[in-house]
Amino acid sequence: DWTMGDYKNTAIAQIREKVGDGKVLLALSGGVDSSVAAALLAEAVGSQLTCVFVDHGLMRKNEGDEVERAFAPWDINFIRVDAETRFLIKLAGVTEPEHKRKIIGEEFIRVFEEEAKKIGAVDYLAQGTIYPDVIESGAGDAAVIKSHHNVGALPDHVDFKEIIEPLRLLFKDEVRQLGRELGLPEYLVSRQPFPGPGLAIRIIGDVTKAKADMLREADAIFREEAALTGEDRRLSQFFAALTNMRSVGVMGDGRTYDYAIALRAVTTDDFMTADWARIPYELLDRISVRIVNEVPGVNRVLYDITSKPPATVEFE
Ligand code: XMP
Repeated sequence: DWTMGDYKNTAIAQIREKVGDGKVLLALSGGVDSSVAAALLAEAVGSQLTCVFVDHGLMRKNEGDEVERAFAPWDINFIRVDAETRFLIKLAGVTEPEHKRKIIGEEFIRVFEEEAKKIGAVDYLAQGTIYPDVIESGAGDAAVIKSHHNVGALPDHVDFKEIIEPLRLLFKDEVRQLGRELGLPEYLVSRQPFPGPGLAIRIIGDVTKAKADMLREADAIFREEAALTGEDRRLSQFFAALTNMRSVGVMGDGRTYDYAIALRAVTTDDFMTADWARIPYELLDRISVRIVNEVPGVNRVLYDITSKPPATVEFE
């Protein structure tokens, strides 16, 4: 009977046959799909593969390093572009959610194209498209609630002969299984969804480095505490967001006027609808105490008790 090990071997043989001694280029986001696609290609064609990982500076804490470390075992060309300053400059003063998304999506493609130009001629552009993406793109145009930015949207100015999408026939859980089969670390393979625009759409209003740093710390505390109790395994997605609200607090003998962090946690099967998660009060308490004590600039923690609809999972 059929196993993921068989699938892996067949896929590798097919990729080798197709690519020959050609060069392959892939935009790596650090998400599950592009990571598994990259690992499969790395296994199949090794140094003929170049992965471009655009670090927009809006990743979660340690995420960039984790992605880089996961690919260390393979002999591929791994290019990590530190583009934080570029993205922050483009985003400065921008508050409208769709505008933020558009800026990030476009800047992403620009950075990727610049890297592609440096590499020179490539034969194949690889993408981590999975089966549900294939179905979705044929679904007609529903009203745009949010313009989803997926890393791997096609760049206009990169020359290549053909696209390869080695995960096209797989569902998400199969993609994760294949990732394990390929030896990718569990922290990458079982990663929760993370939006292409990253923390920018979890910072309500304008984005600055100070706000992104604040949010990264708060979010890391949430994830750490949720993992300690195993609560994270019950949740489909959970994260901290930085509200644009400051309020009065008291710390020691002093008055504070600082930001409020919102915690968001949902359970869902398909992300089209989602329930807010009934996280134990004790856990919420630990997270709140730690965030307020450990993250300068934050004096209040809120828990989002809205489901989707009428709210969305992300705040922007
Ligand atoms: P919403 O906020 O629309 O989110 O309820 C539903 C799911 O989609 C993720 N999401 C994105 N994923 N690019 C992505 O790749 C995006 O621009 C994007 N926006 C939202 C969100 O994290 C949730 O899992």
